[in-house]
Amino acid sequence: MSLHGKAALVTGGARRLGRAIALALGRAGMRVAIHYHTSASAAEEVVKELRAAGASCVAIPGDLSRTADCERVVDEALSRWGSLDLLVNNAGIWGPTPIGHVTEGCWDDLINTNLRSMFFVAQRAADALRASRGSIVNIADVGARRPWRNHTPYLVSKGGVVALTRALAKDLAPEVRVNAIAPGPVLLPDDWSAEQAEQVARTTLLRRIGSPDDIAGAVLYLAQAGYVTGVILPVDGGYLLH
Ligand SMILES: NC(=O)c1ccc[n+]([C@@H]2O[C@H](COP(=O)([O-])OP(=O)(O)OC[C@H]3O[C@@H](n4cnc5c(N)ncnc54)[C@H](OP(=O)(O)O)[C@@H]3O)[C@@H](O)[C@H]2O)c1
Repeated sequence: MSLHGKAALVTGGARRLGRAIALALGRAGMRVAIHYHTSASAAEEVVKELRAAGASCVAIPGDLSRTADCERVVDEALSRWGSLDLLVNNAGIWGPTPIGHVTEGCWDDLINTNLRSMFFVAQRAADALRASRGSIVNIADVGARRPWRNHTPYLVSKGGVVALTRALAKDLAPEVRVNAIAPGPVLLPDDWSAEQAEQVARTTLLRRIGSPDDIAGAVLYLAQAGYVTGVILPVDGGYLLH
């Protein structure tokens, strides 16, 4: 299944994993709508880089913790491309939330940004994806299956992404395939020390941190895997088995 000339929307596509995914899709010949929230100049950089490589590309702003923005971002991508073949729900937030310090606001932020947004973006895109026989790739987290300490609301949001992926795979079949990637540690926070990185690397069988390109490669695979739906693909260096 060729991606060439097909239309994609990547949420949180301006930096880190989303950037790697957007660049990989553009280099595969897709027309890419890059959604961003606060990283306007980073989004413009990705647009510039892809246009220089000959790809069609546009940046669309939006706060996906607001349902109205989820819907508008999809509408803008559709009005730009006229159709949609691939939705990558990547945007999300993360941070330590030890028990005793979790407020209702913090719970709502994590769940709404990481989970509710994915549903409302997908719901708005569903008709266009049905028409194109397209697909959705949600970015989950291996932590939903093998949790670590002090991140309960985040891990619950990602457990929800796993359930959402399976439920949407049923609801949108047979026209639309819906899969998820469960990354392990592929890109650590910028301010983590070498010792922290080493400690995390030791939690994987492969004894190393992955790279954003590992996730982008998995997105390319799932976007083209015509007989794969409802699957949660770990890309985790063996974290789940270790
Ligand atoms: N990094 C890893 O090793 C790892 C491991 C497992 C899972 N994941 C998952 O992979 C995805 C990307 O990870 P990452 O490390 O690249 O994340 P990140 O650095 O935290 O980037 C998050 C992205 O989400 C966007 N975002 C945040 N709040 C938003 C909001 N309210 N509305 C719209 N967009 C919002 C940001 O956009 P702006 O910058 O434009 O504000 C940014 O592009 C996330 O879903 C994460 O949970 C990552």
